[in-house]
Amino acid sequence: MNLRHFICLQDIDGSEFRQLIGRASELKRLKPADEPLKNKVLGMIFEKSSTRTRVSFEVGMVQLGGSAIFLSPRDTQLGRGEPVEDSARVMSRMVDCIMLRTHIHETVTRFAEYSRVPVINGLTDRFHPCQLLADMQTYFELRGDIASKTVAWIGDGNNMCQTYIQAAQLLDFRLHIACPHGYEPELGLIAAAKDHVELCHEPTVAVQQADLIVTDVWASMGDEGEHEERVKAFGAFRTDEALMSQASADALFMHCLPAHRGEEVTAGVLEGPQSVVWDEAENRLHAQKALLEFLLLESNAGRS
Ligand code: CP
Ligand code: NVA
Repeated sequence: MNLRHFICLQDIDGSEFRQLIGRASELKRLKPADEPLKNKVLGMIFEKSSTRTRVSFEVGMVQLGGSAIFLSPRDTQLGRGEPVEDSARVMSRMVDCIMLRTHIHETVTRFAEYSRVPVINGLTDRFHPCQLLADMQTYFELRGDIASKTVAWIGDGNNMCQTYIQAAQLLDFRLHIACPHGYEPELGLIAAAKDHVELCHEPTVAVQQADLIVTDVWASMGDEGEHEERVKAFGAFRTDEALMSQASADALFMHCLPAHRGEEVTAGVLEGPQSVVWDEAENRLHAQKALLEFLLLESNAGRS
């Protein structure tokens, strides 16, 4: 069997997605008595900043009995031009799993091609699958299965939006995307998910009957140079109290964080009663512990 990686959500199927969510919730309640990942080491390569992803993976490995190594291109030979293919072959002979956060998505896919151990995408310019594990865990815990529900994505058609498109296909929910002209997600992803996804340019249309409203920064990491023009383009795409009031009465609000109060979301919504962003952030830890178990103890068991 081929080595299983977690580079985008399509690396798992819907039933594995639900299994990971269930296990994440279980791990949240239980403190495992044994150390299932004893002596296992996770290598973590960060080309971009991180708080949640770094802390959750590092703490998760410790809680499972293993450890994690933080590597930045600045301090490794990757930053001096050592090819990804060489770095992947060397590192994967030493560690048991590798997580990468990179600018270019293909860096992660190329790394995985040459890796002997499972590779996890910790965010690229195209996808952020670990965040969706946590978001969906949060929804399932608070509202039950998301199948047939409606999710509204407000804002940039970015890596988070594109991962929601894939989640909609796997978990069978409807996704209404409202983004400014010129900031749509990849059209190929929308076409592949056409039974689940609708694209519009009007936030008030997207939130009708929505059970979950999700947004993200207007300028992702790497887009900071466009901040001023994006603030102009996204002015009508702020999630505020008026927009929330047009969704279902019990709709939840999520944001992967970090958030910019007063830009993509008002402080009132972020701190308000429908916001579950702190549970969502905490669930990164539990969801990724479930993912690490899945990759290291189940789907790739017996390979090393
Ligand atoms: N949501 C998220 O991935 O946060 P960090 O950038 O802090 O890891
Ligand atoms: N879209 C954001 C997500 C941060 C977790 C970014 O890529 O910067």
